[in-house]
Amino acid sequence: MPVVTFQKGGETFTAEVPDNANLVVRAGIKKFPWPHLRYGCGMGKCAKCACRVLDGAAHLPPPNWKEDKQLGARLAQGYRLVCQIWLTHDVALAQDDAPLPPAGGS
Ligand code: FES
Repeated sequence: MPVVTFQKGGETFTAEVPDNANLVVRAGIKKFPWPHLRYGCGMGKCAKCACRVLDGAAHLPPPNWKEDKQLGARLAQGYRLVCQIWLTHDVALAQDDAPLPPAGGS
């Protein structure tokens, strides 16, 4: 089962999650990384869930078109939309204190 390390606001939280866990779905049912993870739509439309991948990026699937649209050049800086990712390996993530504005408009 993947181990998720999540950094936010100067704190680090670590927990094991089930295979194929989606962190926004988990937060929606009040499981780790709730209440620390900021999220919104859960559908790749708001970018509120954007996190920088600090470790484990090689095990993530390639960004989908929603991530391309919402993150644009920030993909190259290591940002991903965690609502669009189902985890199968350990990952370390950091979420900025303020949400990112969408890169691509609507
Ligand atoms: S929660 Fe809205 S884009 Fe991920």
